Amino acid sequence: MLRELTTLGVGGAPAEFHVPRSTEELVATIEDCRRRGRSWRALGRGSNLVVDDRGIDDAVIHTAALRELEIHPDGRVIAGAGLPTGVLEARARAEGLGGLECLVGYPATIGGAARMNAGGRWGEIGARIEAVVTVDRQARVRRITADECAFRYRGSSLGESIVAAVELRLPRVDLAAYRARTRAIHAEKAAVQPLDARSAGCIFRNPDGVSAGRLVDELALKGHRRGDAQISERHGNFLVNVGRAGSDDVLRLIDEVRDAVAREFGIDLVREVEVWR
Ligand code: FAD
Ligand code: EPU
Repeated sequence: MLRELTTLGVGGAPAEFHVPRSTEELVATIEDCRRRGRSWRALGRGSNLVVDDRGIDDAVIHTAALRELEIHPDGRVIAGAGLPTGVLEARARAEGLGGLECLVGYPATIGGAARMNAGGRWGEIGARIEAVVTVDRQARVRRITADECAFRYRGSSLGESIVAAVELRLPRVDLAAYRARTRAIHAEKAAVQPLDARSAGCIFRNPDGVSAGRLVDELALKGHRRGDAQISERHGNFLVNVGRAGSDDVLRLIDEVRDAVAREFGIDLVREVEVWR
């Protein structure tokens, strides 16, 4: 069940489930899906997803076993797409490399983070990426430069293919100062975001110049519930699963919040979390 592989903890089974252990196996899986006319989706840490409890009619390719890591003294790093960002950050730091402040405080794989251009106030991962190795829907392997990735706010051109590996360039840093900075960022986030609850991070993208969470807060919707799905009492843009929330409750709550913000502020919020149904 995908609920076990997503941080929000909702979602049923996919039609098929694949866990390739190398780029070669990934290519073979995609080629096999293509031949059978089966569409597929990539799954990383599942930290930006709401999956339908009824399951999905596609294959899911989980990147969890694509975990190679090469760290070169000049700061060039090659990471398998499924490598957890926390592991990447810690291993790079052990070699004296930093520059990953933008990944602090949330669970992700480096492949999912590249696809989403994850980050926030402390930068975005796209700025550290030199190139990515992808496999497209025709099972062709390609190396795509950062320019071609077209990184933008919570997005990139990487949606149509699957990222197999990410090439980064990380700066050598003063380790004590870097460690202090990442700890401070974590503490700052933990003070306003429900980092320990089951969530998929922010539900909505921020509209120009405003925090979506602040708008939800101003409407006094924090704590509002549908079943076990709840708008976090701490941050208005986080939806948390406080028990056994179902995907229908989650999606209804998202719609309610979006409708209320449209009605009261005339702002159409755009979802950041991806819905699989
Ligand atoms: P998934 O959720 O598994 O997938 C997300 C999307 O990427 C899907 O479309 C999926 O198909 C695609 N994808 C996954 N892997 C690949 C791949 N290898 N190749 C191609 N496509 C792929 N995000 C931020 O940007 N900033 C934050 O501050 C932040 N805070 C968060 C806090 C919490 C508590 C949580 C739970 C989430 C937060 N998020 C944040 C959201 C989320 O962590 C990021 O979007 C993250 O990059 C998703 O990575 P993932 O590996 O979990 O991807
Ligand atoms: N605020 C409120 N009430 C709330 C939430 C926020 O008044 O309930 C106010 C805060 O007090 C602050 C302002 O709104 O003055 C901004 O809040 P915050 O610092 O939490 O940032 P954000 O704009 O809500 C964005 C990203 C986060 C990222 C943080 C820090 C989006 C949609 N969200 O949140 O990313 O962690 O900045 O960089 O861009 C995510 O993408 O999933 C995510 C969590």
